[in-house]
Amino acid sequence: MDSSQKALDDFLDDIITVKWGREKQSIDIIDQTLLPTEILRVELDTKEKIWEAIKKLRVRGAPAIGVSAAMGLAVCAGKINTTDQKEFYKEFLNIKEYLASARPTAVNLFWALNRMENVCKANLEKDICTIKNILFEEAWKIREEDVQISRNIGKIGFSLLEKIKKEKGTVNVLTHCNAGTLATAKYGTATAPMYIALENGWQRNDISVFCDETRPLLQGARLTAFELSHAGIKTSVQCDNMASLLMKKKAIDIIFVGCDRVAANGDAANKIGTSALAIIADYYKIPFYVCAPSSTIDKDTLCGEDIPIEMRSDDEIRTMWYNHPMISENVDTSFNPAFDVTDSKLITGIITERGLCSYPYDKSFSNLGLV
Ligand code: MRU
Repeated sequence: MDSSQKALDDFLDDIITVKWGREKQSIDIIDQTLLPTEILRVELDTKEKIWEAIKKLRVRGAPAIGVSAAMGLAVCAGKINTTDQKEFYKEFLNIKEYLASARPTAVNLFWALNRMENVCKANLEKDICTIKNILFEEAWKIREEDVQISRNIGKIGFSLLEKIKKEKGTVNVLTHCNAGTLATAKYGTATAPMYIALENGWQRNDISVFCDETRPLLQGARLTAFELSHAGIKTSVQCDNMASLLMKKKAIDIIFVGCDRVAANGDAANKIGTSALAIIADYYKIPFYVCAPSSTIDKDTLCGEDIPIEMRSDDEIRTMWYNHPMISENVDTSFNPAFDVTDSKLITGIITERGLCSYPYDKSFSNLGLV
């Protein structure tokens, strides 16, 4: 590893989303609601605290939610006080169901918790201490795999960036929300191509990233811009409603976004505002890529219509981030969906860790053995 690669790795390790807390009695997360002004790590040692952290977006982003829930489940299972396997399993399932209720859209949450359940079930004849150790190991494996998955997605995304750089000399990327380090175990999905570019010696003038601020919770402004700029990438933030003009002015070469759930036909749910971007990108003929670990592809959800969309409190629209409410009391703000679904026809490609998929996605997923 050369020195610039090491510096990048050290930085990413400093803001690592989730790790074990002391003696594996807790999970240790960076509280993302406080970024970028404060970098505060907190230890969560009960199922209630883990649930609250996921619900309130202290830890967020589809893969990170899955990893945190799996590690959290291992921690909570480690504290179940019984020597009876049946009793253990019953309590394990209670905790699992409780954590699964924290957020509905990101399928990684259910995927990771189900994987933990399968491992628990398969080892139930063993003594409780061994089962607990197996659960810790499995949760860590989910985390480690996520790191590798991000790198693979990053390498495929980087090959797209290289082509643009060859043609134009520099690359302008647009992204939405945060599908970065903070949303995964390490490299992000939509940000991974840029991190791989840095590892390959790209300099500040080779690439610029335009981050949508991402109303109402500002993950693009607070999180993506924070992590990319600290990693040394030329970064700017624009209000969501400026993306169209940016694209019209030909300032954008490629769009990378993450996703929370991809249906079997390739329709992809991601942070609210993503589908508008895809529609505009289609109009201006700008390639629009969804970066999706295979854990985000849900073969049981046939199309976007079937993806459950989380509705959140309208405080996020009315008051959050402002010193004073920005909207009169008698104005309705109850419509606050956290995600929308981008029609698969508008997606140039879905980048998975196993390869680049294209429309029609059901065939492409099956060719790569993803469904
Ligand atoms: O509500 P959030 O902040 O959890 O939403 C996150 C996103 O929409 C991300 O783009 C998505 O989870 C991709 S994560 C690699």
